[in-house]
Amino acid sequence: MLATRQPVLRRFWYPVMPAALVDQGPQPFTLLDERIVLWKDGNGRYAAMADRCPHRSAQLSKGWVDGNALVCPYHGWAYDGSGTCVRVPQRPDSGGLKGTAVETFACTERYGHVWVALDEPLGALDALTRIEMQRLLEQGWEVRGTSRHEQGLALVEAAGIEPALADPQQPGTLLDLVGDVTAVYWLLGSASGEAENIEAVHGPRLERFLERLVETPVRRFVYEAAGSVDPAVLAKGASAVRKAGETWRIPVEVLDHPAGPQIDVSKLG
Ligand code: FES
Repeated sequence: MLATRQPVLRRFWYPVMPAALVDQGPQPFTLLDERIVLWKDGNGRYAAMADRCPHRSAQLSKGWVDGNALVCPYHGWAYDGSGTCVRVPQRPDSGGLKGTAVETFACTERYGHVWVALDEPLGALDALTRIEMQRLLEQGWEVRGTSRHEQGLALVEAAGIEPALADPQQPGTLLDLVGDVTAVYWLLGSASGEAENIEAVHGPRLERFLERLVETPVRRFVYEAAGSVDPAVLAKGASAVRKAGETWRIPVEVLDHPAGPQIDVSKLG
């Protein structure tokens, strides 16, 4: 099976182009063989839809934005960000054509890029995870990624990373995996779930893990201090990591700014 035919890949978020480019007008691109137009409406909302007008198949990316609609360049039919036909110039009183719509895709703007997922997205964006994993793979490192559940393991594997079942709520399950590991990346800045659990993996659970690291071959610990988690929680985690670095003499690094998205690894937590 071609890599682009793997259904799970359609559920990843992909950074497809700089937002500034879309601000200039509708932009075409191809993602996993889907021809898509990306555009921004008059209210500043980004939309991704099939680059094919349902009327006579003209390329919508060659059209223009009028208010909150993308206008087809051929006969002027207009579609809103949900793909609904809202105006047909040849039928000015109709207010659009019921039942006529363009296929749309999940779309959002983060870190100066517009991101698109073709099917229901898996998890939130976690750009730093992607950046770091991409870097490590490019540098020739063998990378092992953990997840608490089977679905997460499938994502890790699809990203070219060795999957392993472990749970940061139970630091022992992670420690069992680090006997042959040089560096640990605690990439939970966009972890989701119960607030109490999120605080734990950036607080007591993290501290417990750091204490035990001293008994392992790990020589580098990287903590993700940016993402969708409450900044106060991340700040506490970063502080614990720095303190552990001084106490246990473990080289630590705190990632506190997104450097620009590159690949989609999705949840490793
Ligand atoms: S082809 Fe788009 S309006 Fe006719």
